[in-house]
Amino acid sequence: RSCVDWRGKQVVITAGGTREPIDPVRFIANRSSGKMGFAMAAAAREAGAEVTLICGPNGLPAPAGVHRVDVETAVEMQSAVAAVERMDVFIGAAAVADYRVQTPAEHKLKKSAEFDSLTLTLVKNPDIISEVARRVPKPFVVGFAAETENLQTYAEQKRRAKGMDVICANAVGEGLAFDQPDNALSVIWSGGVHHFERAEKTQLSAHLIELIDKIMSRE
Ligand code: PMT
Repeated sequence: RSCVDWRGKQVVITAGGTREPIDPVRFIANRSSGKMGFAMAAAAREAGAEVTLICGPNGLPAPAGVHRVDVETAVEMQSAVAAVERMDVFIGAAAVADYRVQTPAEHKLKKSAEFDSLTLTLVKNPDIISEVARRVPKPFVVGFAAETENLQTYAEQKRRAKGMDVICANAVGEGLAFDQPDNALSVIWSGGVHHFERAEKTQLSAHLIELIDKIMSRE
């Protein structure tokens, strides 16, 4: 059992990548597997919380005792989050597509004999975590940032811009974070920074829940 007591707390976690349709058979996606968010859901449940896990398509079993909501697109993820009435803690581990295809084709796109290029018009998706941070009462908001360069600087900029309390920054690239069983994190909040060495996502999540609990009780 976890040494954190989150009994009575409502925790909402997003996990995995979203899929943005191009036509009925094609989509834009990313390499998120859902493992980080699922491990966070298991750790929060282990601490006694009521956990809602809102996830993009993945092949993972839901942790025992967790309420799972499957979605496909960013807009569906936004609606599923908006439908949760009460939340004490929100953890955004999902890799949400920043853009979607403006008008997905109704029928399968045909390869053109005439043109060698095809242009898709993308429009911005809603920012789910920023909306959560604007709720009244405001839940405690924890986000993730995947960066290929300037990890801490970019992560801290995102934390402030989106009104998050804590941001967990992971370096990404070949063999890092996305779709890996393990991860390393720099956790940043207004009062400090904590580095977690590379460890299994399950183990890392248990420690991260402990750190979040400490930061929450200081604020
Ligand atoms: O799923 P895994 O394979 O285990 O990989 C885990 C992970 C690398 C995907 C995860 O640890 C991670 O870093 N998730 C965030 C990925 C990311 O690139 O986030 P971002 O920088 O685009 O967004 C920052 C924050 O805003 C995130 O908390 C994100 O969930 C949130 N966001 C982003 C866009 C959007 N439209 N709505 C959001 O809520």
